[in-house]
Amino acid sequence: LLPQASRSFSQIQSKPERSSFGIAFDIDGVVLRGRVPIGGSAQALRRLYGDSGSLKVPFLFLTNGGGIPESRRATELSELLGVHILPSQVVQGHSPFKTLSKRYENELIIAAGKGEPALVMSEYGFEKVLSLDEYASYFKNIDPVSQYKMWTTKQELVKSSYPRKLVPSYNITADRVKAVFVVSDPVDWGRDIQVLCDILRSGGLPGHDNGQQPPLYFAADDLEYQAAFPSERLGMGAFRIALESVFNRIHRNTLEYVSFGKPNPFVFKNAEAILRQLQPSCNDNSVNNGGIGSHPFKTLYMIGDNPLVDIKGARQVGHPWFSILTRTGVFRGKYNHAEFPADLVVDTVEEAVDYILKKEG
Ligand code: G3P
Ligand code: MG
Repeated sequence: LLPQASRSFSQIQSKPERSSFGIAFDIDGVVLRGRVPIGGSAQALRRLYGDSGSLKVPFLFLTNGGGIPESRRATELSELLGVHILPSQVVQGHSPFKTLSKRYENELIIAAGKGEPALVMSEYGFEKVLSLDEYASYFKNIDPVSQYKMWTTKQELVKSSYPRKLVPSYNITADRVKAVFVVSDPVDWGRDIQVLCDILRSGGLPGHDNGQQPPLYFAADDLEYQAAFPSERLGMGAFRIALESVFNRIHRNTLEYVSFGKPNPFVFKNAEAILRQLQPSCNDNSVNNGGIGSHPFKTLYMIGDNPLVDIKGARQVGHPWFSILTRTGVFRGKYNHAEFPADLVVDTVEEAVDYILKKEG
């Protein structure tokens, strides 16, 4: 109390205390199911803001989902949850893809998955990016069952409304695909497995002979996740298994790929760095406060519903992470998860926030 007592009133007003803790919220199965807030999430989040509406406790969303730019997801979350979420508070499975944009400067890359994967990658700085939907549409007969798909017309509409700046100028049948990014959950698994096998086994030129497999990146590797349906849904990890199984049967080399997202430790390290930037007084570089980096968090809370993803990840990193498992998503057990037990198991995210705020006093 002493150092604070010696400060003037205006200093206390303008420079709130650094929080010694921060919170990472999983989205699907913790905060939302589909587009519906669950577990008292809206009320819980409101408690992290001061009376003036400013952020009192640094927090972010750490999701393996995605498919739209972080800025748009922040707007969506703000509307659904009734609090003002900044784009920097949204870390999606594909967010780390932006670190690879320099590696593929001026090279053709393919972005697969629901939503607007090409827009996501283009905002990350990738210059020559095409969605798998659009890429496939340039190859006549690449999908032999396309005429049976009732949504063909809608796909055409999406293509025609695509921002022109995303369509690079090159020869689609001569330029090799240099990398494939599975940005979000694929929609048309059959077509996507077919076209990805074509790209990957030909060395980036569908319809041509075998070539070296271009790098393949997945935004996450969740086998299952909690959406609006009562039981879990197959996630990107399930798609990866399907693609890998087929590829390994039709090609002499086994599929090579890299998966991002939780539970990779770098996701949690990155979240910690972002949370530091979100600390209310992080711009205060005075000697007393020491500036960024000299006041590490005492505790960082990961609130998740998936033991194999959220809890495993936080446990792997260890201090300062403290894992809280809710019963509103993938995990529904009475006690704790046997293989990846959380530090605390609660029913809802509201209960988790209540525990944290009481503990941090
Ligand atoms: O597709 C989303 C899913 O894989 C998981 O999302 O928010 O539970 O990490 P989340
Ligand atoms: Mg989840």
